Amino acid sequence: MSKPANRLQETKEYYFSKKLKEVRGLIAAGHPVINMGIGSPDMPAPPAAVAAMLKGLHDSVAHQYQSYTGIPALREAMATFYKDNYGVTAQADTEILPLMGSKEGIMHISMAFLNPGDKVLFPNPGYPSYAAVTRLVEAEALTYDLTAENGWLPDLKELAKQDLSQVKLMWVNYPHMPTGTKVPDGFFEELIAFAKAQDILVINDNPYSFILNDNPQSLLAVPGAMDVALELNSLSKTYNMAGWRVGMVLGSETHIGHILRVKSNMDSGMFYGIQKGAIAALGLGKDWFDHINGIYAQRRALVFKLVETLGCSYDSNQVGLFVWAKLPSGIDAEAFIDKMLLEKYIFITPGTIFGTMGADYIRFSLCVKEEEIKEAIERVK
Ligand SMILES: Cc1ncc(COP(=O)(O)O)c(C=O)c1O
Repeated sequence: MSKPANRLQETKEYYFSKKLKEVRGLIAAGHPVINMGIGSPDMPAPPAAVAAMLKGLHDSVAHQYQSYTGIPALREAMATFYKDNYGVTAQADTEILPLMGSKEGIMHISMAFLNPGDKVLFPNPGYPSYAAVTRLVEAEALTYDLTAENGWLPDLKELAKQDLSQVKLMWVNYPHMPTGTKVPDGFFEELIAFAKAQDILVINDNPYSFILNDNPQSLLAVPGAMDVALELNSLSKTYNMAGWRVGMVLGSETHIGHILRVKSNMDSGMFYGIQKGAIAALGLGKDWFDHINGIYAQRRALVFKLVETLGCSYDSNQVGLFVWAKLPSGIDAEAFIDKMLLEKYIFITPGTIFGTMGADYIRFSLCVKEEEIKEAIERVK
């Protein structure tokens, strides 16, 4: 048997990849599992996107290799989406690169900017891919702790006191997953000033700004941000298109050029029909957001009830696709979720998978139908 590369030594299979096998096993054994674990939108993609994708299948170029940078109309649609929703002007040809989901962008950006041994700042708790990819490219993790007491925000003044000379990248993700923290006034401005002072490229991973959030914001809206920042965005949650795999990265022409050098050597373009569908989705207005948020708001009210029934506490101001809840003191998150899975057949995510600072917390997805949430409440009563 061939041995895996050294870089895999500390890299484990993604938590959900493993845990969902266990969930599937329970379902196959006939147990009625309610999956409140993963944030995979269960509602349909916009009908206009589906229709445009199907129509695109008949275009003469539909089945050929596609451009490494996406068709011009897709980049234009992304530019208009940023202008209309965040007030950010980005040049469609040079400052926007379509991605097959924002998750792949984490790898492309890391490969484009990191040498082995470079340091990377990322949040604890935070999306696990920042840590996993940092390890895969043999860079060094320097986590910044987020706590309820500091409003789940990095203490930039404290960070600036440390030796950050080796830090090349900093990942932030606001609105924040898993805690649901919104972008506070002035925070993005402070972050850009920090990035400039420390000569760090800061990347905001921004897939949740339209979910239950009435004030979508982009880091790139801060004057001068393009020099020191990138932003990832995604159609996965905004348009219920997680399985389509459409995302984007925006930044300066120079930075985007470096990322393209990696990406163009890794894939050969996004399927044409998907690009056509994505263009249609990006053109939808406020009605679409009102539609999905109406449903998510009702689900969230029920999940808050479930959380209360479990004796957990929560912040009712959180935004995004999840509810982040604090366990009663002394309860171990992983033991708790295993008990819920095996005894109540409810799958919830333990906060530990997002880092040590998530140890006292659990995360509920809102991608679950109201009837199922009601059923979960009945089961735990
Ligand atoms: C914080 C965060 N970033 C990125 C992603 C990946 O999204 P995409 O489907 O665009 O790859 C997710 C998905 O769950 C996420 O929670």
